Amino acid sequence: MHDILPDDQVYFQKVCKSVESIANFYTFKRIETPLLEDADIYYKGTGEDTEIVEKQMYTFRTKGGDHVALRPEWTPSIVRSYIEHGMQSLPQPVKLWYYGPCFRYERPQAGRYRQFHQFGFEVIGEAKPAIDCQIIQMSHDVLKEMRFKNLIIEVNSIGDSECRPYFKKNLMNYLRSKRSSLCPDCQRRLKQNPLRILDCKEEKCQRIKAGAPQIIDHLCESCHSHFKQVLEFLDESEIPYNLNPYLVRGLDYYTKTVFEIFENTPQGKEQGALMGGGRYDNLVKILGGRNTPACGAAGGVERIMSLLKNKETKPDTSKDAKVFLAQLGNLSKKKSLKILEEFRRAKITVAETLSKDSLKAQFRTANKLGVRYVLIFGQREALNDEIIVRDMDKGSQEVFKLDAVVAEVKKKLKNL
Ligand code: HAM
Repeated sequence: MHDILPDDQVYFQKVCKSVESIANFYTFKRIETPLLEDADIYYKGTGEDTEIVEKQMYTFRTKGGDHVALRPEWTPSIVRSYIEHGMQSLPQPVKLWYYGPCFRYERPQAGRYRQFHQFGFEVIGEAKPAIDCQIIQMSHDVLKEMRFKNLIIEVNSIGDSECRPYFKKNLMNYLRSKRSSLCPDCQRRLKQNPLRILDCKEEKCQRIKAGAPQIIDHLCESCHSHFKQVLEFLDESEIPYNLNPYLVRGLDYYTKTVFEIFENTPQGKEQGALMGGGRYDNLVKILGGRNTPACGAAGGVERIMSLLKNKETKPDTSKDAKVFLAQLGNLSKKKSLKILEEFRRAKITVAETLSKDSLKAQFRTANKLGVRYVLIFGQREALNDEIIVRDMDKGSQEVFKLDAVVAEVKKKLKNL
C-alpha cells in the first residue's frame, strides 16, 4: 500500500479528469459503491477459483458475524447496486463510470499494489456488439487523451455458456496429455480452470499453449457472429487491435469479447495491462437479477501514473499560483487574510507563507514557486491601504490602492 504524495497529485488528477471528460461525453453517470461488501458477491461474481478471490481478496468477519470483503474490483459491486436499486426499470442500457480504491493482496512488484485505484465504465442492459466496440474505444481514448502513443489493444472472444464447455473439454484433453510439463500452478488449474493456462506467463506453459486448440475456432454461431461484428466496428472506427487467441482474462464472469490494453514499451510490458475488460452477459443473473447483458472495462490509475511520470510532457500545472503575497508586520498580517479572500473570490490563486515573518524568507519561497508577481504588503502599506505589486520577470514595481489591486492583477495576468 502506498501514499499518493502531493507531487504526484497532478498525475492522479489528470487521470481522473480524462476519465471524467470522456465519461461525460458519452453520457455515463458516476457511481460510488461501498468499499466493503458482502464477500459473497465476489465469490459468486468474480469467481471462487479466480486468483483474485482465492489468493488476493482481503476478507474478514465483522463483530456481527457478517463475512465481508474489501473491494478487489468494482464490477460485481456495481451489478449488485444495479439490482438492488431496480435500475433494470430505467431506460436501458444504464451507463455508469467510477474512480476509486481497490484492494488485492498481491506480491508487490512493478505496477502491482495492494491498495490501488481503478476507474472504469460499465454498460448494463445492452447486448449489441457496438457496445463492446464503444467500451474499447473509450478505454483507448482515455489513454490517448493522456498522450500515450504506443498502445496495443489485444482482443479475443471466449465464447459463452453454449460453446465454452465444449472448448474446455477439448482443451482439457490436449492439456492432460502434457500435464507433467506444465508449471505447478497450471497443473492445479487443469482441474479448476483450464482456460487460465492459456494466460500463463511461464515459459514451459507458453510452449505447450502454442499447440493448444484455439477458442476462436470453437465459437458457436451467435458468439462467432458477435465477435465478427465487434471486429468490423473496430475496423470501421479505425481502432488498431491485435487478435490474441490466448487472452482469457482472470475473472470468471466474462462471456464473448475480452480485451486488454498495454503500452508497448519495456516498462509498459513489465507493468502489465493498463486497462482490461469485456462482456459479462451472465453476471446480473448470477447475482440474483434478471437475465441482462452487460459490458465494461477498468483501468489501473497507478500503472498509468507511473508511465505518465516517465514522459517528457508534465501535465499542465497552469493552475499553480502566479501571484505571491508577502507581508511584513502585525497590521499587514491581519489585513492579509481579507486580501487573500478577495483574490479567492476573483478566482486568482495566491500563494503565501503567513507563518513567516522575514521578508527574505518569503521571497525565497516566491522564487521557488516561480510566481510572476509578488504583492508586498508592509507596515507602511497597511497603514495607507496600499500594496506594492512587483513584476519578478521585469524587476519593476507599482503601488496600487488596496481596493484596486485585485482588478489590476487580473488585468496583468490576462495579458501574460
Ligand atoms: P482487471 O484486469 O482485474 O479487471 O483490472 C483492471 C485494471 O486494474 C488492470 O488492467 C490494471 O491496470 C489494474 N490493476 C489490477 N490489479 C492491480 C494492482 N494490484 N495494482 C495496480 N493496478 C492493478 C477488472 O478489475 C474488471 N472489473 C474490469 C472490468 C470492468 N470488466 C468489465 N468491466
